Amino acid sequence: MKFEFKPGLALLACLLAPLSAANAATGGEPIQPIAPARVASPATAELGKMLFFDPRLSKSGFISCNSCHNLSMGGSDNLKSSIGHGWQKGPINAPTVLNSRFNLAQFWDGRAADLKAQAGGPIANPGEMAYSHELAVNTLKTIPGYRGAFKKAFGSDEVTIDRVTQAIATFEETLVTPDSRFDKWLKGDKKALTADELAGYKLFKDSGCVACHNGPAVGGNSYQKMGVVEPYKASSPAEGRVAVTGQDADRFNFKVPTLRNVELTYPYFHDGAANTLPEAVDTMGRVQLGRKFSAEENARIVAFLKTLTGKQPQFAMPILPPSADATPRPKP
Ligand code: HEM
Ligand code: HEM
Repeated sequence: MKFEFKPGLALLACLLAPLSAANAATGGEPIQPIAPARVASPATAELGKMLFFDPRLSKSGFISCNSCHNLSMGGSDNLKSSIGHGWQKGPINAPTVLNSRFNLAQFWDGRAADLKAQAGGPIANPGEMAYSHELAVNTLKTIPGYRGAFKKAFGSDEVTIDRVTQAIATFEETLVTPDSRFDKWLKGDKKALTADELAGYKLFKDSGCVACHNGPAVGGNSYQKMGVVEPYKASSPAEGRVAVTGQDADRFNFKVPTLRNVELTYPYFHDGAANTLPEAVDTMGRVQLGRKFSAEENARIVAFLKTLTGKQPQFAMPILPPSADATPRPKP
């Protein structure tokens, strides 16, 4: 018999081995329902919500976290790459902030250990909000209406970047999307999915997607090579995890994105090159698994992916306290 080495399949076997152990512990399914948010400190989350929506944390006075992570649109901006200060186009697609608390680390290359470490990044990033931590803190200090919110959250009205990032991270912890139709099915409501959606889930499992997209967030818990079987020609210069580890083996390794709410978070991949789910599923099949799905198979997988859209966070729009005369005005 001719021996044929199939790197994709060998890798998949390695990836699936620990997964089957995990399966045994979680009732057999590689994906688990997302639990609703537990809000440890409502006052801190409330302050974080205000800061998430406050464009005065940017130099232009125009860009807030919500500009690029629009919570009315799945926590992303639906652009190939985001537009930041002075209409600058960024190098990489903005991932959703929904369910980001489940990520093993933040950013495509995992360079921020957690949400708090991440939140300081965009404020001072010249291509995003283009401010500095000091300027952001000084701006907040000039707004009298924030004092009470900081006091309620932290026991004193002192404004520090540490408190700002802590509050934003606490708010982000609440941005989970439970009760998708798929979660209802997982919890025993066997009528929650149609036959096509169920067939799509079976394909998603049997063809090996679950090797990388598993757990409650259906991803977010490992770094994997983009282009396991076939090289992926990215339209972004980003090289992934190697930027953090310096290890050549980590070149083009990216954090596996969550597939929760994926229906809402187009375009797809770190370079935002895939505009639609059928395109993204086709690419994944080819470059990660060496498999060409038929139109029918593709449509079934897409139908399954759309059952992952959960209950979106609902809250009253925060009304932000007015600027004082001393509050810096927008700068170009
Ligand atoms: C990544 C939150 C502002 C664009 C992220 C991530 C989080 C986040 C949690 C990581 C998600 C993941 O890895 O799955 C925030 C917060 C902001 C903010 C709290 C306000 C302080 C912005 C703005 C822009 C933006 C204003 C656009 C100008 C991006 C992009 C990434 C990202 C492009 C991916 C960067 C990379 O992985 O290298 N953001 N964001 N963000 N955000 Fe934001
Ligand atoms: C990205 C689906 C198999 C690792 C994605 C995305 C989708 C998807 C829709 C885009 C998500 C987004 O950008 O928000 C699937 C399906 C699969 C599959 C349907 C089975 C056919 C795999 C496998 C691996 C993997 C087996 C690991 C070997 C990744 C990685 C990304 C990704 C690393 C991000 C790549 C980048 O942006 O450069 N997947 N996936 N996927 N998936 Fe998969």
